[in-house]
Amino acid sequence: MANVEDNLFKNVISHAKEYGFIFPSSEIYDGLSAVYDYGQNGAELKNNIKEYWWKFMTLLHDNIVGIDAAIFMHPTTWKASGHVDAFNDPMVDNKDSKKRYRADVLVEDAIAKMEEKIDKEVEKAAKRFGESFNAEMFKSTNPRVLEYQKKIDEANQRMKDALGSGDMAAMKQLIIDLEITDPISGTKNWTDVRQFNLMFSTEIGSVAEEANKIYLRPETAQGIFVNFLNVQKTGRMKIPFGIAQIGKAFRNEIVARQFIFRMREFEQMEMQFFVKPGEEMKWYEFWKAKRLKWHLALGLGTENYRYHDHLNLAHYANAACDIQFNFPMGFKELEGIHSRTDFDLKSHEKYSGKKLQYFDSEDNQNFIPYVVETSVGLDRCFLAILSKSYKEEKLDDGSERVVLRLPAPLAPHKVAILPLTKKDGLPEKAMEIMNELKYDLRCFYEEKDAIGKRYRRQDAIGTPYCITIDHQTLEDNTVTIRDRDSMKQERVKIADVKGKLIDACSINNLLRKI
Ligand code: GAP
Repeated sequence: MANVEDNLFKNVISHAKEYGFIFPSSEIYDGLSAVYDYGQNGAELKNNIKEYWWKFMTLLHDNIVGIDAAIFMHPTTWKASGHVDAFNDPMVDNKDSKKRYRADVLVEDAIAKMEEKIDKEVEKAAKRFGESFNAEMFKSTNPRVLEYQKKIDEANQRMKDALGSGDMAAMKQLIIDLEITDPISGTKNWTDVRQFNLMFSTEIGSVAEEANKIYLRPETAQGIFVNFLNVQKTGRMKIPFGIAQIGKAFRNEIVARQFIFRMREFEQMEMQFFVKPGEEMKWYEFWKAKRLKWHLALGLGTENYRYHDHLNLAHYANAACDIQFNFPMGFKELEGIHSRTDFDLKSHEKYSGKKLQYFDSEDNQNFIPYVVETSVGLDRCFLAILSKSYKEEKLDDGSERVVLRLPAPLAPHKVAILPLTKKDGLPEKAMEIMNELKYDLRCFYEEKDAIGKRYRRQDAIGTPYCITIDHQTLEDNTVTIRDRDSMKQERVKIADVKGKLIDACSINNLLRKI
């Protein structure tokens, strides 16, 4: 990570804590690694992101319904889904630093370094050749670039083979051959690579026996699969249709760092779309495009999103891609879109002995539907929005401010109600206005400190509008509305305030942009 971005990320993290967005979990006991609590402003922002997603899925698509399945599920669920046997990460320890790493991440980082070297060669050549430079031609002919590319392709292929066959010795050999060193100790003193299952387990009931072992769900999707027929039958759903869910998921991540990007307890917003076999690629493309539009409507910048197709497909998928976001630590996965075939339903049929098929009355036939899944991390959405909204600005008068330019419909508070002074009946008038607005807009009331200071505090938590009640208000029933981003103020009739603010702050209006 470049230094500027590194500092920016640190500032975002401390801002999130200072202003009540995110706290380390159980901080008074020094926290718990990779677990975080959302504070009073964080919880509001998070709820608004959920509402934006939930309404998009279930209001704007009349063939998608939402459920709320339990976190605990019958343990056979996880056998059927493949998580008991295959939800593993390869891990390796450095014997000198005693630090643990994901072996595939070490290899991916080494590959990324080689890719950076190619980029540098291209940059140098572009400077040398000027306007006539053709980057593609250069990459396909320059011997040094070709050498790097060959190494990259070989490393990718060897990793794919090793992970695919579960050959951890081959994975270790790859780490040795790529001469990967531990970033902390600087040595190549690695242990063997071992598989590590990411599921948390606990016991249900009072007797701690193997038979009572259950898992904390590592994805919400399985709660949807096991309820597929319940929902289809009781909702009289016709294929194609979707089931959406927002809920907690748990993974005992080996490398849990980068703040809320990779946590051990996190939240997913998932939707399984059940389609006719053979039509899955059409729907896969459909949902790829739709989900990107949902992200883009937030206005965080088109350039900050990109698709990343999976080359190494999981055994159950016939197509998969990520929507990556330009986080402070670079482009990383924000959402996954997967064509999961009929793998999950078929496997649940096998393990449960219950038929999980759809009867198509038009064709008069039963079939197991294929599934296209959209799966986005709520916390990663939060991080994407928070980190891109965080701005340290120098103002014309030489002063500085930190502002969260959050999309107004997602801001924890939509409007701050600020009487200019604590006397002359201004607080009473301010309360009157707030009582009128509070049913439609989350308001923040404050009368302490100079108005400039109060504006800054609202900037820091991303409140898009401040209403100031002054002596003129008592005379002509007008207030000033200050815009967070432009800092411009305009005088508006009290009667017009509500309409104006609802327009700018409504999630429904945001949805209309998609
Ligand atoms: N049902 C499919 C599934 O769970 P995934 O790619 O493993 O797929 C989906 O996870 C999304 O969940 C990711 O794109 C990411 O946004 C989020 N996610 C996964 N692991 C996470 C973690 N440890 N912390 C925070 N978010 C995570």
